[in-house]
Amino acid sequence: MRAGTLQLNVLPPLSLYVHMPWCLKKCPYCDFNSHEWRAGGQIPEQAYLAALRADLDAALPLIWGRRVHSVFIGGGTPSLFSPDAIDQLLADVRARLQLVPDVEITLEANPGTFERDRFAAFAQAGVNRLSIGVQSFDDARLKALGRVHDAQQAHNAVDEAARHFPTFNLDLMFALPQQDMTACETDLRAALAHQPPHLSLYQLTLEPNTLFARQPPPLPDEDLSADMQHAVASRAQAAGLQRYEVSAYAIPGHRCRHNLNYWQFGDYLGIGAGAHSKISFAHRIVRQTRWRHPQRYMDQAMQGAAIETENEVARRDLPFEFMLNALRLREGVAATLFPERTGLPHSAIARPLQTTQDKGLLILDPSILQTTPIGFDMLNNVLECFLPE
Ligand SMILES: C[S@@+](CC[C@H](N)C(=O)[O-])C[C@H]1O[C@@H](n2cnc3c(N)ncnc32)[C@H](O)[C@@H]1O
Ligand code: SF4
Repeated sequence: MRAGTLQLNVLPPLSLYVHMPWCLKKCPYCDFNSHEWRAGGQIPEQAYLAALRADLDAALPLIWGRRVHSVFIGGGTPSLFSPDAIDQLLADVRARLQLVPDVEITLEANPGTFERDRFAAFAQAGVNRLSIGVQSFDDARLKALGRVHDAQQAHNAVDEAARHFPTFNLDLMFALPQQDMTACETDLRAALAHQPPHLSLYQLTLEPNTLFARQPPPLPDEDLSADMQHAVASRAQAAGLQRYEVSAYAIPGHRCRHNLNYWQFGDYLGIGAGAHSKISFAHRIVRQTRWRHPQRYMDQAMQGAAIETENEVARRDLPFEFMLNALRLREGVAATLFPERTGLPHSAIARPLQTTQDKGLLILDPSILQTTPIGFDMLNNVLECFLPE
């Protein structure tokens, strides 16, 4: 092996991400690649499906012969697509990729009435996990977040998801405009009353290039936000939802396999506008991004050129990139996963490991890479130690 070359003896599990880039309305806090569908009427489902097919066809040589363990249809608002379109999409995927028999297929849905009526048909199309973007069960908070649904619609949507899907997730945010501790706890209680198998609890962040970044709403201060983080974590855990990642909580057997694959530094092919991919080969790891703007993406994909950027991950960046993902997991990962997924020898992280262990931020067991409880609460400080010198 040439000095400086990676050596991956086994390729990691592969997932598929499909990005659906449209929403009814852009939320003021959102920096995802989502675009208001202003043209009126139906979104261009057939044209977009054709672009996804062309994108996937062009990508196949990169993942030839590999089985796919999970599919995640995210957005934007994928539930704006009709069940027939989702059915077609999944048929297109199955015709081109070998999915494992118990493949997890997640679809992100917004909780409007219009979408709720489609949940049964999404399940019929083969979706077996629904992720509902509730954000809050409090009408005043939903209004402040610019959401297009109200609390009652959110409750109804969750009930409907529980009826039709073997598992589902609720996205909830905290530290919302003018939220106090009581309101935060009330919100979480409302979520827990539905006994969700999975919860994602995110602190609202002001992302650059959003309306909230330009005109910040009155948010809880840092101390109150930290107290809220502790309160939601302990309440969710008391209700039997284990915090297995910084923002993710699940009852046993319901962890999100797709996201676990990201955190375990697995591979993913991302198709659709602005989607990201990470694909490993025996001696290199490649990242790609697709064209971001939906129309540009569709035009490019139909010409077999959906990829805007492609680059090999530099050897020196791999330790940080691996740790950035793996240490988000409360239980960490087996130490053997580092050489297996990065193709680097364990010695590549020996020094920062020693430093973080000496500071009490990582546990001392040599068979596992895992933060201590203090390290978990100070993840950014831990990760800094793994930045390239
Ligand atoms: C891809 S987004 C959108 C899913 C869906 N379109 C929706 O809004 O319901 C996934 C989740 O990220 C979270 N999120 C989005 N922007 C955020 C922000 N600025 N701060 C914290 N969480 C955010 C929300 O909980 C959201 O449900
Ligand atoms: S609905 Fe979801 S993806 Fe769309 S703008 Fe709002 S937060 Fe972003």
